[in-house]
Formats: sequence, C-alpha cells, structure tokens
Amino acid sequence: MKILIINGVNLNMLGSREPDVYGDRDYAALCAEIADFGAEIGAQVEVVQSNIEGEIVNFIQGAAGNFDGIIINPGAYTHYSYAISDALRGVDVPAIEVHISNVHAREEFRHTSVTAAACVGQICGLGFDSYKLAIRYLNHVG
Ligand code: DQA
Repeated sequence: MKILIINGVNLNMLGSREPDVYGDRDYAALCAEIADFGAEIGAQVEVVQSNIEGEIVNFIQGAAGNFDGIIINPGAYTHYSYAISDALRGVDVPAIEVHISNVHAREEFRHTSVTAAACVGQICGLGFDSYKLAIRYLNHVG
C-alpha cells in the first residue's frame, strides 16, 4: 500500500503556530511519527507539504497511477478551495481528509469543508493520531 500524505498551507509552522490549538510538536515530529507508524504497519508512506494551492493540485494529479491512497490536510484551503476539491474528484485514488484540530468545535468558517465531500471520509480533532487512523484505514481497505 503506497500512501501519499499531502499537508497544505501553514502545516509547516506546527510547533510555533498556535500551540494551544495544534500542540507544541513541530512539523518534523509529525513527519517522523507518520514514517514510524507506516513502517510499523507495513504501509509505504510519502509526505509532502506546500503553502501553494496549485502545487497541492499537482501533488494530487501526480498521485494517479503512483499511489494507492491519499491522506490530505489542506489546512485553510479546506474551507474554500474548489480547485483542490476538483483535483481530488479528478483522480481515481481514494482520499481521506484529516485535521489536527476539531474544526467543528472552532470558528464557523471552519465548519465547512469543500474538500471532504471529494474524500472517502474525514478524521479530525485527534491531533497527530488523525493521520495514523487514516493510514490504518487505507492500509486495511487497500
Ligand atoms: C487544520 C484546520 C484548519 O481550519 C486550519 O486552517 C489549519 C489546520 C487542522 O489540521 O486542524 O491550517 O487543517
């Protein structure tokens, strides 16, 4: 099972960014935890990050034929990027949307995801474990 994990805008700022919301572990710690978990359950995981919407679209398009599943945390693009939503619909690769925080318990604008409907499901509010549960699911169904 080859899984592409796409982190979007501002996820590279983990650790210093609003630690009360996202915790004090940094982006490198997230990547290490994902790599360790992938190795533990025998899933091949690759992690990419971009703050640029078009690059995220390119990552999604590039996953077609190269990965069996996508896990995506689009960051704030979740709430308004029809381009990312269309890209997810445009490839035949199952995707799971993840969030570190519980977006539904935060500001009103975060309650809307224009990308989740293009995914198999959404996992949010479980910190870094949101990613691990998504990896476990894709590995299990794939
Ligand atoms: C986030 C939630 C988004 O609302 C926010 O804009 C982010 C991070 C999360 O992982 O909790 O950048 O996607």
